[in-house]
Amino acid sequence: MSPSSAQFPIRRMRRLRRTAALRRLVQETHIAPSQLIWPLFVAHGEGLRRPVASLPGVAQLSVDQLVKDAERAASLGLGGIILFGIPATKDGTGSEAYDDQGIVQQAIRAVKRAVPDLLVIGDVCLCEYTDHGHCGVIRDGEVDNDSSVYLLGKTAVMQARAGVDLVAPSDMMDGRVAGIRKALDAGGFSHVPIMSYAAKFASAFYGPFREAAGSTPQFGDRQTYQMAVSNGDEAMKEIQLDLDEGADIVMVKPAGPCLDLIRRAKERFGSPLGAYQVSGEYAMIKAAAERGMLDETKAMWESVTAIHRAGADIILTYFAPDLAEQM
Ligand code: PBG
Repeated sequence: MSPSSAQFPIRRMRRLRRTAALRRLVQETHIAPSQLIWPLFVAHGEGLRRPVASLPGVAQLSVDQLVKDAERAASLGLGGIILFGIPATKDGTGSEAYDDQGIVQQAIRAVKRAVPDLLVIGDVCLCEYTDHGHCGVIRDGEVDNDSSVYLLGKTAVMQARAGVDLVAPSDMMDGRVAGIRKALDAGGFSHVPIMSYAAKFASAFYGPFREAAGSTPQFGDRQTYQMAVSNGDEAMKEIQLDLDEGADIVMVKPAGPCLDLIRRAKERFGSPLGAYQVSGEYAMIKAAAERGMLDETKAMWESVTAIHRAGADIILTYFAPDLAEQM
């Protein structure tokens, strides 16, 4: 009898599920705190911890409070934190993004001073800083690609000057990885890696983030630069392009709705792969749990385990500290 025909009752799958000890022994997917990145929002002020209504457990933090969360991240052994800034004033070109005294630059300096070993990632985008809320600058009513890339390069250099460990462009302009790489190298920062949001979709699941970051577009939407949800082959092309332009780590976003693309990217490209469990994915679990519709802890673990099982080496998630606390 060939092994493949050794069916029931020889092959009983339940044997290895009978006790917790057996289940633990055959567990295939393990998540370590070092793979988790915690997104944090930093704003001007002092002693500020302003809750974001649409993201229970998430707050806009002043630099002094951010340092406390950074210390927590370090003591939990998290892979790092990624910073989003809420500027004092917004304008047409997002000036505070690349101001030496911009909020994220201040935050990077403070965190690196207080917790030098914690990995600090800077999100590189203009949407939090522009008065129109788009990820680039506007020319003739459209998001202008190349002048936006120039300002994104400038932003990355200012973050690097403040001491950031890694920059993460999330804007989806064409050629921005190459532009940022060139700007960093010219500024003396050839050692600063780039983690690009390579395959970033125009997703409804970013809704709560835009409240947290105050970055809702004031006209139109992001469909002229973020990808159409229907296109998986195009996602592979975007990732390939970013790698060709010098991205050190590539990312798929959102995570839960793109598990197939995480798997395809994992199998196809040999570079570290990230996935972002975005605000809407987090908020859905929180909201359902608040209404008693599901168990928050179990849903948190299941959603993040699925992202890792699909092939993500690095996971950006608002659940990062809660997960690490339970490891
Ligand atoms: C900025 C940016 C966004 C997110 C990360 N960086 C919002 C957007 O593109 O509209 C979304 C993160 C989240 O929803 O948690 N470009």
